[in-house]
Amino acid sequence: MKLEGKKALITGGNSGIGFATARLFIREGAEVAITGRDQQTLDAAVETLGPKAVAYRADVTDSNARADLFSQIGQRFGSLDIVFANAGIGGATPVGSTDEAVFENIIRINLTSVFFTVQAALPLLNDGSSIIFNSSVIGSLGNPGRSAYAASKAGVRGMARAMAYELSPRNIRVNVVAPGAIKTPIWNRGSTPPEKADELTAQWAAAVPLSRLGEADEIAKAVLFLASDDSSYIQSVELFVDGGIVGSPIGATFRSA
Ligand SMILES: NC(=O)c1ccc[n+]([C@@H]2O[C@H](COP(=O)([O-])OP(=O)(O)OC[C@H]3O[C@@H](n4cnc5c(N)ncnc54)[C@H](OP(=O)(O)O)[C@@H]3O)[C@@H](O)[C@H]2O)c1
Repeated sequence: MKLEGKKALITGGNSGIGFATARLFIREGAEVAITGRDQQTLDAAVETLGPKAVAYRADVTDSNARADLFSQIGQRFGSLDIVFANAGIGGATPVGSTDEAVFENIIRINLTSVFFTVQAALPLLNDGSSIIFNSSVIGSLGNPGRSAYAASKAGVRGMARAMAYELSPRNIRVNVVAPGAIKTPIWNRGSTPPEKADELTAQWAAAVPLSRLGEADEIAKAVLFLASDDSSYIQSVELFVDGGIVGSPIGATFRSA
């Protein structure tokens, strides 16, 4: 067991990648606090995850909810060894027709709240802890209509590098997992009609050298690696788990030509 006796917080642990990671962490011996906004999926998640999971309803953008969350985690767990700052949203922000509020909301959830989650967690974090941010290949690829999302995810990478330096004296590691296109509910959230979401995922699959979307469990395994002692000398990296779309994009183009 790679996480025996460890205590972890996973934001957005009631769905998709966060939920898959909570399940794997528990299998590896950890106790896990998950957060989200939707009480129904939080309850369902804990029901499935069992007694080593506890759920807290907390919007990552709400500073009062955050203070409350860490006070409750402190009472329940005493301290933390792992923070997976995973909660995030997608959303279109085409240049020329985007409302400032829509742009700001993506930045606030995906970037600003990641910083303040870590800041609030710090007093509970043991020396030697592991912090993992969930970024995206879109922080590196040019993806039309996704300026705010791309900026938020590239921002997370930059922030991890600054924090890794600041927290190294406490042997706290800060790393980033950058998923490619992964099958989760994120594709069907918001205003995207189901047929459009299907079209979008098919386009992605065609562009990936491994010719398919990834599974949430495949991201969870990478997060487990970054969270555990298996990565004890890994600090400040961005680990792409993307079927090769960032490293070998031309491969897919040639195959389909
Ligand atoms: N799936 C992909 O293709 C992909 C690719 C690259 C990166 N990612 C990143 O992976 C992360 C997880 O996404 P996912 O694919 O697993 O999608 P998902 O199933 O939609 O999960 C998103 C999670 O974030 C939570 N969340 C969103 N806004 C929140 C807020 N304001 N406060 C608290 N929780 C909030 C959601 O909780 P509620 O439902 O309760 O609001 C949910 O648990 C995101 O950061 C996303 O950008 C995903």
